[in-house]
Amino acid sequence: MFYIGVDLGTSAVKLLLMDEKGCVRKVVSKEYPLYFPRPGWSEQRPEDWFLQTMEGLKELVADCDRSQVEGISFGGQMHGLVILDEKDEVIRPAILWNDGRTGEETDYLNQVIGKERLSEYTGNIAFAGFTAPKLLWVKKHEPEHFAAIRKIMLPKDYLAYRLSGVHCTDVSDASGMLLFDVKNRRWSQEMCEICGVRTEQLAKVYESWEPVGTLLPEIARSLDLPESVRVIAGAGDNAAAAVGTGTVGDGKCNISLGTSGTIFISCGHFCVDAHNALHAFAHADGSWHLMGCMLSAASCNKWWMDDILKTSDYAKEQADIGALGENRVFFLPYLMGERSPHNNPNARGTFIGMTMDTARADMTQAVLEGVAFALRDSFEVAKSLGLKIEKTRICGGGAKSPLWRTIMANVLGIPVERIESEEGPGLGGAILAAVGCGAFESVEDAAEKLVRTAGCEEPDAALTAKYEARYQQFRQIYPTCRELFDRLVF
Ligand code: XUL
Repeated sequence: MFYIGVDLGTSAVKLLLMDEKGCVRKVVSKEYPLYFPRPGWSEQRPEDWFLQTMEGLKELVADCDRSQVEGISFGGQMHGLVILDEKDEVIRPAILWNDGRTGEETDYLNQVIGKERLSEYTGNIAFAGFTAPKLLWVKKHEPEHFAAIRKIMLPKDYLAYRLSGVHCTDVSDASGMLLFDVKNRRWSQEMCEICGVRTEQLAKVYESWEPVGTLLPEIARSLDLPESVRVIAGAGDNAAAAVGTGTVGDGKCNISLGTSGTIFISCGHFCVDAHNALHAFAHADGSWHLMGCMLSAASCNKWWMDDILKTSDYAKEQADIGALGENRVFFLPYLMGERSPHNNPNARGTFIGMTMDTARADMTQAVLEGVAFALRDSFEVAKSLGLKIEKTRICGGGAKSPLWRTIMANVLGIPVERIESEEGPGLGGAILAAVGCGAFESVEDAAEKLVRTAGCEEPDAALTAKYEARYQQFRQIYPTCRELFDRLVF
């Protein structure tokens, strides 16, 4: 039997074909454009997602026995606002997770409605990328669009809708809307009222492994797949990546170095930190998780290599890097503002500490280290809750760099394990599809049987101590610049 996982990312959709033993048979990737109509804004066209997913699916199943495909599921970029009118047509381009236009709406929610009430209703406070502030933005700036809304959807749910005809979402992705009562796994009536939304405008909520339907006949025909292929709800990309790295059950950790950077801690029970610095979301395994999300992680490295150094040879640039733990250049990786833990859309990328002898490689190194230090900020919040994180797994494009994995292990001071397949959300999606088709008893059972590790970077005591001293310097830079970021509003 075959199961398909669709990872609807920010730069591309990655599709993965897995067999019932967890072997990845094929991976296909299809890109689409990302639009920045104004500084800090970030949009995509849902139609591009759908068309590229269809192209990718055709290629993915081209040379397998298509009658053996049983199920398809998703890991999708979270928080994006997709709005449909009464004909189920997309009203405007999707406003994405890394869009920072909603500063005013976020302040309104946190300060006028109040963080305590938000946390009581949803387990979270407002962050600029979340969906509810985007709805308030559309209501204020595009009232004709707001009035036309019949359905509010998240990115991967739009794909599920186009494939199955069902308006659905799952608990993990719904958690990032700030319209969802995470603890009780249902829509929050109070939040809907605050945002002027009716619950009928929201999709039906499923657990991540639950089937929502089967392929629409015309979709099945065009893909040459059986109509019986089940469409399974799926999960937000981080929860899906957690499934794909075996980060399920209580107290496990996964780091994702993708366009965003996240630190994800699975919890057997619902919990929040005192200041809601970490997101408290439902997990795809039926439980919950805490998560810190930085808006630019591997994308900082991509920006530095592609746009500034104008090179595609990342390995060569990294090979010139000298001693670790001794770099005097620091980089604040806030190229799209920052979410966790600073919650400041006005924050900006910053190099500091250069001297006449600073070399190109020092700056390349500072970019990798800056991302690791910024993730450590969220790691510290998790530790302050008394969570004992003794090791982590890692996935995402950035995890392919052995150097970056070594930096992560020594900045965090814990072993960093990698998985045979780096396609975290895609593999997680395929595993959820297998569970939804009845091939496994539970998500935990499937992850235990299917996910295999492929090595580990152990921290080195001397290097960890050097990085500790560097981190203590790094963490002073943002508070010193914050006032300036807010004043300049670049
Ligand atoms: C998580 C988040 C990002 C996106 C990236 O809260 O905003 O990780 O899901 O795809």
